[in-house]
Amino acid sequence: MLNPEQIAQDAAAAFAATDDPDALEQVKARFLGKSGQITELLKGMAALSPEEKKSTGAAINRAKTAIEEALNSRREAIRQVALEARLAGESLDVTLPGRGEIRGGLHPVTRTLERIETLFRSIGFEVADGPEIEADFQNFTALNTPEDHPARSMHDTFYLLDEHGKLAEDILLRTHTSPIQVRYMQAHVARYAHLETMPEIRIIAPGRVYRVDSDATHSPMFHQVEGLWIGKDVSFADLKGVIADFLRRFFESDDLEVRFRPSFFPFTEPSAEIDVAFMSGALKGRWLEIAGCGMVHPNVLRHAGIDPEKYIGFAFGMGPDRLTMLRYGVNDLRLFFDGDLRFLRQFV
Ligand code: DAH
Repeated sequence: MLNPEQIAQDAAAAFAATDDPDALEQVKARFLGKSGQITELLKGMAALSPEEKKSTGAAINRAKTAIEEALNSRREAIRQVALEARLAGESLDVTLPGRGEIRGGLHPVTRTLERIETLFRSIGFEVADGPEIEADFQNFTALNTPEDHPARSMHDTFYLLDEHGKLAEDILLRTHTSPIQVRYMQAHVARYAHLETMPEIRIIAPGRVYRVDSDATHSPMFHQVEGLWIGKDVSFADLKGVIADFLRRFFESDDLEVRFRPSFFPFTEPSAEIDVAFMSGALKGRWLEIAGCGMVHPNVLRHAGIDPEKYIGFAFGMGPDRLTMLRYGVNDLRLFFDGDLRFLRQFV
């Protein structure tokens, strides 16, 4: 007959040699299963005398208990090892640098627009907005632009088709940001109709504008920033001061000169073109045109419901694309709108 103590030792050794939970259950069956060694011993007891049954039974029970304890502690040990392996495998190093999402950046023209907004806000201007699909009235008529003005021709302006495919009579893609002047003045007048004297208007209005035009310095879509200051006694000297101060701050340089050259716009009188020249650097001494401006024409004020005998002011419209080219030394406007990341990444 097999010796229970020996069986218990064999079982402990067999358990210790197993590291897999399923294999461990198989091994267990060899000792404690239906035809396992301990079960066989118990079956063999039937043939024993009462005294032998007592002592052998006790020995078998001790062996069985020992085997169960060895089994349980081995189960626990295997479980522990598996848990540790899992923890090690899933370890998370929070100090590792991130995988690096692709980082976006602002478009150079957007940077310029934000910079212009910041500078003008700092001297008390608000930022206004208007629709890119504009009414003929605001884009032309209210701005004192006569019917035969070239900007109204089919060659300059993108007109729109209505839902029947016919030319829409009264709407177009705005050709400049100047209609925002009109819209803002109209809203301002309505808002302060109850006051004897309306508060000053001091706004800039950045936005996209559209013209049928395309070469190295023209794109069918480009940007403008409109400016408007209307009050009781706003003068051309104020215009010069505001513009010259803005340009020095924009280019972070006192080493530049600003020139106002007589010009014509239907919506201003007198009108001027604003040129800037840098006194050092690659563009030294060359006059570069960056904006149009003037004193707002009395007809424009009238169209917006403002009495030109009571109020006066100036307006300007500048080209932020041009300013961006000058600031970063870019020589082809189209680069801004081609979407070539090799170009754009340089500004991030
Ligand atoms: N709207 C003009 C253009 O697109 C630019 C301009 C000139 C705007 C003079 C103004 C201004 O406000 O006073 O060519």
